[in-house]
This record gives sequence, structure tokens and C-alpha cells, in this order.
Amino acid sequence: MHLVLYWNFLSFDFAQSSLAKSTTMSSDLKSKFLQVYDTLKSELINDPAFEFDDDSRQWVEKMLDYNVPGGKLNRGLSVVDSYQLLKGGDLTDDEVFSASALGWCIEWLQAYFLVLDDIMDESHTRRGQPCWFRLPKVGMIAANDGIILRNHIPRILKKHFRGKPYYVDLLDLFNEVEFQTASGQMIDLITTLVGEKDLSKYSLSTHRRIVQYKTAYYSFYLPVACALLMFGEDLDKHEEVKSVLVEMGTYFQVQDDYLDCFGAPEVIGKIGTDIEDFKCSWLVVKALELSSEEQKKILHENYGKKDPFSVAKVKELYHTLNLQGVFEDYEKASYEKLITSIEGHPSKAVQAVLKSFLGKIYKRQK
Ligand code: IPE
Ligand code: MN
Ligand code: MN
Repeated sequence: MHLVLYWNFLSFDFAQSSLAKSTTMSSDLKSKFLQVYDTLKSELINDPAFEFDDDSRQWVEKMLDYNVPGGKLNRGLSVVDSYQLLKGGDLTDDEVFSASALGWCIEWLQAYFLVLDDIMDESHTRRGQPCWFRLPKVGMIAANDGIILRNHIPRILKKHFRGKPYYVDLLDLFNEVEFQTASGQMIDLITTLVGEKDLSKYSLSTHRRIVQYKTAYYSFYLPVACALLMFGEDLDKHEEVKSVLVEMGTYFQVQDDYLDCFGAPEVIGKIGTDIEDFKCSWLVVKALELSSEEQKKILHENYGKKDPFSVAKVKELYHTLNLQGVFEDYEKASYEKLITSIEGHPSKAVQAVLKSFLGKIYKRQK
């Protein structure tokens, strides 16, 4: 927490070392990807549709630097990675730029959702620094910053893709996925109202529905769908690819739920709030499944309470029930199931895209 105390509003340094681990992507492509961020940012802070002055330009620049590039960049880099695997050869400079710009649109989408998610979840830290809305000078201005981040996406797409044959499909894709994600966030939030009345209503099927919509479409389907569109493919012909990616995204969010409780905050860059927030997390669903009547009582009495004593009670129960072991078994089974689905796909290039994505997240610690 000393990080928080020494935080200086004016210093913005990024953990570039936290770049996604990737087996296939060269460091050259990664550095080109990072350069595209600077280009897009400078276009956005000089957008002629608005009369920027020094203050507004500086605000947007800091807001972007704080919220957009500081994560693992898995989603963004996966567009470039996937496109390269589909093409099966070296990319032209134009192709690297386009795939990177699409990758950044996903990172922008993620930044927009996270800025608002942290307000709604009352989170404290994100990516090893205070949540944007926690900065004294920011506060609820963060709500409008979320709207700005969201509006940057169609501005990037218009500037760089309006002449492409797949422009309409791209806009449609981003709209569809944004709607699915916002709907997922809605059910993530309103399900806690059901849980507060009766915790035993939480089930694996409720959990699956939440995570499929709030996480899987934008984190897994969207990057690959962007690469497919750029490659000239018709997305309607790739329903199986979509279903494997949604499955992978579900597995990814189970990991996120697990790390919320069992991950090290210094490593995951955030302090978990799922227990306090009454979230329909994979862990609480499993705990309900495995608990005796007495243990269920502990859950009912302590889940969703803000005081640290109650949170500790819940965590103690998770340990007693060996949820770490249960998670390890789930992780192994999911991985094997995904590999089997992937290997059933007729195209080797598509198999490579899916395996590359899976390789980036299997047994992740952050
Ligand atoms: C939020 O899920 C998913 C989106 C932002 C769409 P979580 O609430 O579990 O995400 P974290 O744990 O705060 O990152
Ligand atoms: Mn959250
Ligand atoms: Mn989470």
C-alpha cells in the first residue's frame, strides 16, 4: 500500500515489463505495437472535431496514459499475433499498423470498462496503482473519462479503417461486443441483489452466464474476430471458433475469480473485492456446492460483508474446503477440453491462433 501513499499525480511510468508472454510474437512486433499507441494518442488529443486547449489536451493525455497501456496487453497483442498466424508470413508495415490499431481499440474498450467497473466494484487498486477514480483530482470525473475512452474507439476506426471493405463489419462487431459486455456487467451487478436475499441461489449456470457476457466476448472473441475481418473472412462462417473462444474466456474469468482471493496483490496488481461485494464468484459457487450445513451457515453469515473479520472467515472456509485444489483440477480439465476442441478444427492456421491464445493464459499468475 506504500505505493499508494507515494503516488504522485504527475508521474506516469508504466511497467512495460508486464508485456504479455508470447511464444510466437517477436519483440520487434511488440515495440511496433507500442509505437502505434503514441500515434493514436497524438491523433486523439489533436482531434479537429473538438477545440482542444492545453488543459483539456493534458487531461486526456494523462487519462489515457494512466488507463490504457499499463496492463498485460494480451488482448491487443493477440490481434497482431492472430493476424500473423492467419497470414502465415511476414506482415507489411501497413498490416502491422492496422492490426495494432485494432488491438489498441480493444485495449481502449477494456480501459473504458475497467474505469467504470472499479467505481461500481468500489475497488482500490488496478495494475499496481490506485484506481483512476481514487485519485483526488479525478473522483467522479472518471465517469465521463469512461465515456471519452468509449468514444475514442469509433474515432480511431473512422480515421484508419473507413476506406476498408470490412469497415461496416468492424463497427458492427465492436457494437455487438460492447452491448454483450455491458449486459454481462449488468447481470454481474444485479445478481448480487439476488444473492443478498438468498446466497444459495448462486449456481454454476448463473456464474457461467455472467462471465460469458462480461468477459469472454470482448477478451477472447473480439481480438480473433478483428484479425479474421482484417484477413477478409466472413465472421458468420466461424461459429465454432467463437464457441471455443467463449469457452476459453469462461476459463479465464474463473482464473480471475480465483486470483481475486488467492492471487498476490503485488502480482495481480489489484486487491480483491469479490467477497465484500457479494459477487457470484466461481469460488463462492464451489464453496456452496462443497459445504456442510454448518459451513453453509458460515458463508451465509459472512459473505458480502465489508468488515475484514467476515472476509477472513470466508477465506478460511475456502482454505478448509481446499478450493485451491478444486481450482487446480478445474484448470487442468478445462485446458484438456479446450485442446481437444481446438484440434478438431479443420484449419491448422486457426488451430495455431487458438493455441497461441490459450498458451498465454494457461496457469497464469496475473
Ligand atoms: C469485470 O470483471 C469485467 C469487465 C471489466 C467487463 P471483474 O470485476 O471481475 O474484473 P476485475 O477483477 O475488477 O478486474
Ligand atoms: Mn471489478
Ligand atoms: Mn475480478
